Amino acid sequence: MENISEKLRDWYKENKRDLPWRHTSNPFKIWLSEIMLQQTRVEQGMSYYLKFTERFSDVKDLAEASEDEVLTMWQGLGYYSRGRNLRKAAIQVMEEFEGQFPTNSTDLKKLKGVGDYSAAAIASFTSNEKIAVVDGNVYRVLSRIFGISTPIDSTQGKNEFNNLANELISENHPGEHNQAIMEFGALHCTPKKPGCNNCIFNERCEAFNSQTVFDLPIKSKKIKRKNRFFNFYLSIKNNKVLLEKRDESGIWANMYQLPLEETKSAKQEFGILYETKHVLTHQDLFCTFFKDDNPDETNREWVKLSELHNYALPVVIDKFLKQYFK
Ligand code: ADE
Repeated sequence: MENISEKLRDWYKENKRDLPWRHTSNPFKIWLSEIMLQQTRVEQGMSYYLKFTERFSDVKDLAEASEDEVLTMWQGLGYYSRGRNLRKAAIQVMEEFEGQFPTNSTDLKKLKGVGDYSAAAIASFTSNEKIAVVDGNVYRVLSRIFGISTPIDSTQGKNEFNNLANELISENHPGEHNQAIMEFGALHCTPKKPGCNNCIFNERCEAFNSQTVFDLPIKSKKIKRKNRFFNFYLSIKNNKVLLEKRDESGIWANMYQLPLEETKSAKQEFGILYETKHVLTHQDLFCTFFKDDNPDETNREWVKLSELHNYALPVVIDKFLKQYFK
């Protein structure tokens, strides 16, 4: 088993990307990078990592920021609960850990937004705790090398892969091992174009030898998608637009939007300014934009166009406004 880890780490030393969070052992920065990179590609997360580490030099800075500011900076990264939890976790570190960012997985898991994956990543990268990361890359690499067809979204599958990952992890270099297996999944053992022909494992890879590479890993459940119909209303007065704040649950929690009416089906109405479909993980949002010259202003706020950049807006709305006021 050590042999697999050694091969992965040798491959990693040769092939790893030069990424900013790989040049630090600062747990605050490593935590930021891991939260940002969950469900997000490195190319997309990079500018956010640089922006956040520029604005917040330590966990205290972040704990003192407003939620509006953090959400505005998070704008465009998606899964906005990560942004809200980021600030809450920073506050927890100040209040419960005397401002010292934890580096062991048990304490890390007490932080808002830090689950098994992030705790293992941060603990192994910052203090070499021997605890295996299991993310989408790890499921793919292990299911293929070992030919495992247990569904990764079942309890049994989760346990099986977690146990195997912890058997494989290097005794002396757990942090490097975790980086290596994820990087190998991200760059070499990829979902659609894996490099099987020049793979360090192709002699022993069960999936390669049985031509099941593209069947693995297996997921049992198909996610049910939901269609939603969002009608947004644009009201303009004295170079200001009317915005409302979303409530604190559901998608885009606590962000700002044009006044919204949600309907059960597409609204048949004249005067459509713009229509677009916005695809999220579990839902397709059919967004239609209308003008409203006589709006209800209750619980809404007139915001100067020049101040819009201080408001966290969902990307669909931000794009519409930028286009409209171009
Ligand atoms: N994805 C999740 N964590 C990562 C890391 N540390 N480097 C590159 N990609 C990642």
